[in-house]
This record gives sequence, structure tokens and C-alpha cells, in this order.
Amino acid sequence: MKRLNLAILISGRGSNMAALLKAAAAPDYPARPVLVLSNRPDALGLETALAAGVQAVAVDHKPFGKDREAFERAMDTALVGAGTQIIALAGFMRVLTPWFVEKWQGRMINIHPSLLPKYKGLDTHQRALDAGETEVGATVHWVSPGVDDGEIIQQASLPILPGDTADTLAARLLPLEHALYPEALARACTRIAQAD
Ligand code: GAR
Repeated sequence: MKRLNLAILISGRGSNMAALLKAAAAPDYPARPVLVLSNRPDALGLETALAAGVQAVAVDHKPFGKDREAFERAMDTALVGAGTQIIALAGFMRVLTPWFVEKWQGRMINIHPSLLPKYKGLDTHQRALDAGETEVGATVHWVSPGVDDGEIIQQASLPILPGDTADTLAARLLPLEHALYPEALARACTRIAQAD
């Protein structure tokens, strides 16, 4: 299968991005990283990407103030310039406008730390604990105009244990996210390749 040019959008640590870069180092992986982009210039993940030999840039959202679409047009220029064919949001913490989502619809996926459709938005693990859930998880989904709302590609879950906090759950879930995201991205690439 032809490898799709992959851009990864981050805002911070970038451990899921690192997992995607590691998977994509295999020559038969269906995506080839061409760009890592962060809306925060101080994101640690930018250094990780550069160390892995991947082009990494910051498009700071702050100078754009409330004009989200202007910020996204600057991101879009970088994405198009890199020849992006699929976008993976990996801890990218900006809500995207309908303009950007529609432009990349069917070519953009996200990882969210809950078993969607439950717990869209922030503080997912605390809300799961407060609701008395017995498990938490992560979901990779296609990005659609509603926040954390698109078609689900794949999920992973783990049981909540006595004494768990939001922090212990996030820490135990992270390795599962790192296994889940490369698998789900490969599935997304297959879908796009079949449609192209
Ligand atoms: C991950 O747990 C990811 O699921 C979550 O942020 C973390 C990023 O960590 N994403 C969201 O909350 C998106 N709404 P990372 O930067 O180490 O990949």
C-alpha cells in the first residue's frame, strides 16, 4: 500500500506522537511522517520529533487572539506545504473551527482519553470516577465538527481499581494509548487508500 504523508498535531509532551513516529519507522507502515506541528512553541514533543528526524514547527495560536480561523489558516499553509494527506491529533488542545474540520474531514483523526461517546471534553478520568464507572479507556475517532464526536475507529479500556485517582488512571492508560493509536491510524490509512 502507498504510504500516506502524515502530519501530527500536538500541544505538549507528545508521547502519543512519539508512539506514532516509532510505528511509522517500519517500512511497511501505511503512513510516513512529514510534519509535527505544535500550537505551543515550548511543547516538548517538538524536540522529540526533531530528534527523530521529522520536520517540526510551531504555529503559536496566541498572536491570533480570538481569530481561530486565522490561526488555522496559518496551520493549514504549513500542512499543505508539507504535502499532508492525513492528520493525527495527538494531545492537540485547541478546539478546531468548522472551516478547518470540513477542509480535512475524512483525513483527520484524534485520540481522546475516554470511552466515547462518554466523557467528551476535559477531566475525563475524574468525571468517570465521580460517576462510579468500573472502567476507563481511550478512543481514536474521525474528527467531525462536534467536539470528540466523530465516528469511532478503535478503543482500548482498563478496569478502575480501588484507590485509583485521575492521575493513576491517566498513567496506566498511557501505554494503552501508545499501542492503540498506531493501530487505529493504520486502519484510517486503509480507509483513505480505499476511497482514493
Ligand atoms: C493523551 O492522554 C491524549 O489522549 C490526551 O492528551 C494526552 C496527550 O499526551 N488528549 C486529549 O485530552 C484530547 N482532548 P501526549 O502529549 O503525551 O500524547
